[in-house]
Amino acid sequence: MSNIILETKDVVKKFGGLIAVKNVSMQVKEGEIFGIIGPNGAGKTTLLNSVSGVYKPEEGQVFFKGENITNQGAHVLCRKGIARTYQIVNSFPRMTVLENVKIGSIFGSAIPQDDDAKAREILDFVGFPLPVDTIAGNLNTVQLKYLELARALATNGELLLLDEVAAGLTPGELTEFIELIKRIRDRGITVITIEHVMKFIMTICERIIVLNYGEKIAEGTPEEIVNDKLVLEAYLGKEHAVEAE
Ligand SMILES: Nc1ncnc2c1ncn2[C@@H]1O[C@H](COP(=O)(O)OP(=O)(O)OP(=O)(O)O)[C@@H](O)[C@H]1O
Ligand SMILES: [Mg+2]
Repeated sequence: MSNIILETKDVVKKFGGLIAVKNVSMQVKEGEIFGIIGPNGAGKTTLLNSVSGVYKPEEGQVFFKGENITNQGAHVLCRKGIARTYQIVNSFPRMTVLENVKIGSIFGSAIPQDDDAKAREILDFVGFPLPVDTIAGNLNTVQLKYLELARALATNGELLLLDEVAAGLTPGELTEFIELIKRIRDRGITVITIEHVMKFIMTICERIIVLNYGEKIAEGTPEEIVNDKLVLEAYLGKEHAVEAE
């Protein structure tokens, strides 16, 4: 049996009276690309935030490589090997691309270091299309996504959490991005990705969980998920799901 790199057990996250994540349990295997899908407001980002230390769950546990990491802060988890991107891309706009990536490597390392060569290697690996001394504030949305990914890789993580990285890409850009995520996995990094873009999810994920109103309603391979009645209902509404059968 393959190793479990990340596990959540009955995680609950509330915002006041709203239960954004309800008893979600999942197991992610080392080396896989794991998808989280669900309608808007389903709790996908909140679940990832509860895993990466941005939020502290009210109930349940999170395990990373067998260690109970529940309630540990995001900076601690980053050093332990959990890297992530954010749904709203957030660079340091007055710094260069290279400086932005170096910030990732400084945060991620137990011994802070100003590692120019490593930052260049990572930008090269993601195929960053512009000179490394370009000011980040001048990048377009797609270039920012590549920078965001490079910064996450610079933290030296073993688990990469992606929140809607494929949103807004053209079909050509999407194909390139899919290849890049596969190369990241081939580098030995486990990937958990939240995504609305179905081509992305269906092409690269080995397994998927589906959230709806904070609850996990389905889990399986892409083929199993597209044929799941509860999933169709969550996306299309009950009446239309019956028509679609
Ligand atoms: N910081 C917050 N304070 C209060 N409510 C929040 C907060 N963050 C999220 N929520 C609520 O929790 C629920 C889950 O939100 P979340 O952002 O996790 O959904 P999502 O599945 O990521 O949606 P989307 O696909 O739109 O990104 C929503 O009802 C949302 O309004
Ligand atoms: Mg979200």
